[in-house]
Amino acid sequence: MKNLTDGKFLAASILFALSFVHQYCVLGVQITDLRVPPSVRNGSASVLLDCEYTLRPDETSTDSGLVVKWFFNKTPAPVYQWIPGNKPQELGILKGRLNLDHRASHHPATMHRALYILNPTTDLAGEYKCAVSTFDDEDFMIKTMIVYAPEQRMDVVLAKTETEAVNVTCKAQGVYPEPRLTLYKDPEQNNKRPMNGVTLDSRQRDGAYDVAASTRLQDEELNTTAVIDCELLIPGTDYQKRKTITYHPGQALAWTDSGGSRINISICWEAVTVVLITLLAAS
Ligand SMILES: *[C@@H]1O[C@H](CO)[C@@H](O)[C@H](O)[C@H]1NC(C)=O
Ligand SMILES: *[C@@H]1O[C@H](CO)[C@@H](O)[C@H](O)[C@H]1NC(C)=O
Ligand SMILES: *[C@@H]1O[C@H](CO)[C@@H](O)[C@H](O)[C@H]1NC(C)=O
Ligand SMILES: *[C@@H]1O[C@H](CO)[C@@H](O)[C@H](O)[C@H]1NC(C)=O
Repeated sequence: MKNLTDGKFLAASILFALSFVHQYCVLGVQITDLRVPPSVRNGSASVLLDCEYTLRPDETSTDSGLVVKWFFNKTPAPVYQWIPGNKPQELGILKGRLNLDHRASHHPATMHRALYILNPTTDLAGEYKCAVSTFDDEDFMIKTMIVYAPEQRMDVVLAKTETEAVNVTCKAQGVYPEPRLTLYKDPEQNNKRPMNGVTLDSRQRDGAYDVAASTRLQDEELNTTAVIDCELLIPGTDYQKRKTITYHPGQALAWTDSGGSRINISICWEAVTVVLITLLAAS
């Protein structure tokens, strides 16, 4: 009989201790995962930035002071704020850029924790911080998202700029962020060893980059058919693009500094037409 009472007492003590631990030692608000895609293409339909967190049971009640805020690029004012029970607010650079109806979960204490950005553009590339707080606790996590824009145009041009040499230039326009350009000559034979003496040029225009890589080849380096390969990479993304041209020895190159190395076919046809008309008129 005595033993049974002791057992009951022990069980009650353990239960009490557990509930004590639960109430006072279990951690409060904790961000368990900040899911921000490392890169997204400019003008994609949408992108979701999610901030998953756990709360103590007492923190899910409406009087716990729970607030979810998102910050962008270390700006002190939030770009998003949600207090459960209220409508989420989009602020600053995100004003008018979110789908505020999106629900990341069905739980009233977490449903509007995520940013659902519509048509992300390059101005939204940067550091995102999610901060979740209650009256007693707070936690935050930061991640970076790149919004990249592929080139609007990319060309490889060979042009003669001096008697003994040929200028090899690769240009790409309207890329964001700043891309890396690499030139290769006969990449298959040369183990993809980049060309020597390459000069790089980079300028910003309308929030994007125009870049060029150029080098010189001596005429005797072009005495057999040569493949010139230009590779564009956008750091921090999987984006890559290559443009290849093949040069045949003896091929006529323009003495210009731009892409005018092609024969203007329409001028050709105009000449042919003039000749035909002249012949017909004469007959
Ligand atoms: C990004 O996309 C927007 C519209 O979708 C466009 O206006 C803008 O020019 C693009 N930016 C770049 C750098 O291509
Ligand atoms: C091309 O020129 C290099 C020297 O620059 C020479 O070694 C090579 O034999 C030449 N090749 C041909 C096909 O003429
Ligand atoms: C090649 O030509 C471009 C202009 O088309 C010029 O900007 C560049 O400096 C030249 N590069 C070399 C190595 O001569
Ligand atoms: C070719 O010539 C036509 C007629 O003169 C001109 O309209 C066109 O712009 C030229 N194209 C190039 C690539 O120079």
